[in-house]
Amino acid sequence: MDDRELLELWGLYCRPAIARTMRAVGLDAVYERAEGDYLWRRQGDELVPVLDLVGGYGANLFGHYHPDLVAEERRLADARVPFLAQASVRGGAARLAKALAERVGDYVTIFTNSGAETVEAALKHAHLETGKLTFWAVKNAFHGKTLGAVQLTWSYREPYEDWGPKVRFLDPDDPADWEAAAAEADDLAAVFLEPILGEGGVRPLPQPFADWVGAFCRERDVPLIVDEIQSGMGRTGSFLASEALGIDPDYVLLSKGLGGGMVKIGALMIRRSRFVEEFSITHTSTFAEDDRSCLVSLKALEVLERDGLPARCAAVGARLAEKLEALRARFPEQIKEVRGHGLMVGVELHDQIDSPSNTLRMLSDQKYLGYAVSAYLLNVHRIRIVPTLSQPRTLRVQPSAYIAEAELDRFVRALEQACEALRCADVSHLLGFGVGLTPNGVSDYSAPRPLKRERPRIAKRVAFIGHLVAPEHAYHWDPSLEPFGVEQVERQIYKTARVIGPSIYDQVHVRSETGEEVHFSFIGLYLTSAQFAEALEARDTDWIMEKVEAAVELARDEGCQVIGLGGYSSIIARNGKRIRTPGIAVTTGNSLTVGMGLLALKRACEDTGIDPAQSTLAVVGANGNIASTYAMMMAGEVAELMLVVRDPSSPRTRAQVEAIRNYAPGAKVTVTADLADLRHCQLILSASNAAGSIIFPEHLSPDPVVVCDISLPADVDPSVELVRPDVKVIQGGVVRLPYNDDLRFGGQPLEPGFIYACTAETILMGLEGIREHGSYGAVTPEGVHRFLAVAEKHGFRLGQVQTAQGHWR
Ligand code: F0G
Repeated sequence: MDDRELLELWGLYCRPAIARTMRAVGLDAVYERAEGDYLWRRQGDELVPVLDLVGGYGANLFGHYHPDLVAEERRLADARVPFLAQASVRGGAARLAKALAERVGDYVTIFTNSGAETVEAALKHAHLETGKLTFWAVKNAFHGKTLGAVQLTWSYREPYEDWGPKVRFLDPDDPADWEAAAAEADDLAAVFLEPILGEGGVRPLPQPFADWVGAFCRERDVPLIVDEIQSGMGRTGSFLASEALGIDPDYVLLSKGLGGGMVKIGALMIRRSRFVEEFSITHTSTFAEDDRSCLVSLKALEVLERDGLPARCAAVGARLAEKLEALRARFPEQIKEVRGHGLMVGVELHDQIDSPSNTLRMLSDQKYLGYAVSAYLLNVHRIRIVPTLSQPRTLRVQPSAYIAEAELDRFVRALEQACEALRCADVSHLLGFGVGLTPNGVSDYSAPRPLKRERPRIAKRVAFIGHLVAPEHAYHWDPSLEPFGVEQVERQIYKTARVIGPSIYDQVHVRSETGEEVHFSFIGLYLTSAQFAEALEARDTDWIMEKVEAAVELARDEGCQVIGLGGYSSIIARNGKRIRTPGIAVTTGNSLTVGMGLLALKRACEDTGIDPAQSTLAVVGANGNIASTYAMMMAGEVAELMLVVRDPSSPRTRAQVEAIRNYAPGAKVTVTADLADLRHCQLILSASNAAGSIIFPEHLSPDPVVVCDISLPADVDPSVELVRPDVKVIQGGVVRLPYNDDLRFGGQPLEPGFIYACTAETILMGLEGIREHGSYGAVTPEGVHRFLAVAEKHGFRLGQVQTAQGHWR
């Protein structure tokens, strides 16, 4: 099975969302070998070594497969030392507990199988000991994800909050908060501390807080529990990180490194004077205290001592921190902070929300920046490092105690290149690996571009949801993508489509001729029109609808009164009717789209010398929402209206003809199913939902003809413009803004100062203070007239006419 198949299986049977995200960001490596500080992945025929700085989230203190630990495990297997001998005297556990007590003090140890189980055991013992039910933990703490432990885990407890021990979270930087907590501590069973928050972003606990908690627990006789699951075993320079803080713990929790990277084991150490004997019965486990795990751990403790690992971690870690700090000083806008002790180091990146690169803004906004940098380090530099789950911009460095300094130097150099690429906004350097590009040096794309982010200075606010009409429009959106070919841009977009959500890009104040203003936000979906079309075709639109809904929510939460949907978003959202988010007015902008389309058709007539009043207008696909409104509104303007529909005698068509006659009394309306009848028409509006071209040169009159083709994919075959250059094929019209001459956003293929009519309608609703839905569901002539009038009032006029090739005239 190759890596791709394994990823698919893992996604199918184990972790769908994570598999998808890993693939999207480029962290989907499969490793088949591990030794020391390296993991190996297969790429083609090659087994590629990758420097492993993730180090098992801190568990790999001894390096993968430390030879002495491998020998010990082999010895145990060869000697047939029992693995399963429950309800007997557990010799391995006895020896390991004694060895731990020699390091930590007179504690009784309960062995477990994981970190979280160790935390569970501590919760249970504290309750047994004190009879109380409330615990304290620190904001951003991580103590595991089992039902009890998750209550103590700041970022992941929310769905389970009412379902276990009560926990109060203290802010370690706010003495007033500690005092407030102390005033309500009657039901306090114990206090949990991580001496250095690990998963919470590698943050050492502030000394004043540690002092205060220590004193508080002593005075009130509350058990103080230090969770050294990640920080313990010498990783931070002392056997326990709490030693350095001067904490005298009542319970000590160990796991991760305790197993030497070979076995799964945890230890709950309880000060003998506090140990409740009954607990030996109330916390047991099938696998706990097994000789194999305990004796491998015992050997690990011996190796730790023999090789002086805590001192090594301290020395190597200090030099690493120095180098990272020097890097931070050179890249203060890329690296925010370097934190930690020994070989537990966190490098917090700055977000790049103000980068000239929209891609970097998007990655920052979506919290993928840290993952993008990680993926770059992995794929380009063969260095494995990841952010913590809850702190996605903090890269955590936790190699083994044996890491060679040259390896860490290599990491610092690679990180330097990443910082340089961030500073230069060189996206292709960072992401090129994902589309098969090998990066050369870093190129500078950091020159500021006329993209705007104006904070709103007025209450009237609207937003518009757009997407990339074609992949090549991404170059307008982010010029640093230029080294990518169109096909590569498209590949990049497809790869990330399912995980990237909506982001706000440009924000500007748009001015009306009346002098009024509205604040406009462009919310971009990183999707192309083709992806919308494919999703519609496959009837697999829910995932896009989720993004559209998320964009509507984003707009509402930003204080917008109106959200406009781009063309395909309107279709996916069934002309707005699928949107569920309350508190914001929705518009598809279709009324003004029709209105500007009518004006464009008239202008095209003027250009070609066709007089509508003397002409026959054919409306192809006349049953549709937009086309039927066009037909109705043009009926009175032309000599004859011809509806081209599949079934001329259907009740729907008959009702439509009736409605047109009511709207434009005296209009001449005919109905046909035959495209050959187009030969008699000077004007054609085409809006079928056919999957390919339906109008060919032979369908057209030999005299001048204007075709307005608003269907996607186009109805008019490209051969028409080749064979009949005199035929004018247009798609519709765009709006010219009265001011804002330099406005251009979202990679839209329009000249500065011009916007799509649907966007214009959204902005006009904001200017007019319209709070109910605008174009929503079916378009009506009244709606079209209304928005044309509003457009006129504010000086939003037909700007250009778009031709079939997407050119503007
Ligand atoms: N306590 C601490 C301080 C931890 O860092 C972890 C796990 C646990 C408890 C739970 O241990 O996973 O064996 O159940 N930390 C990992 C991390 C997941 O990313 O830091 P577990």
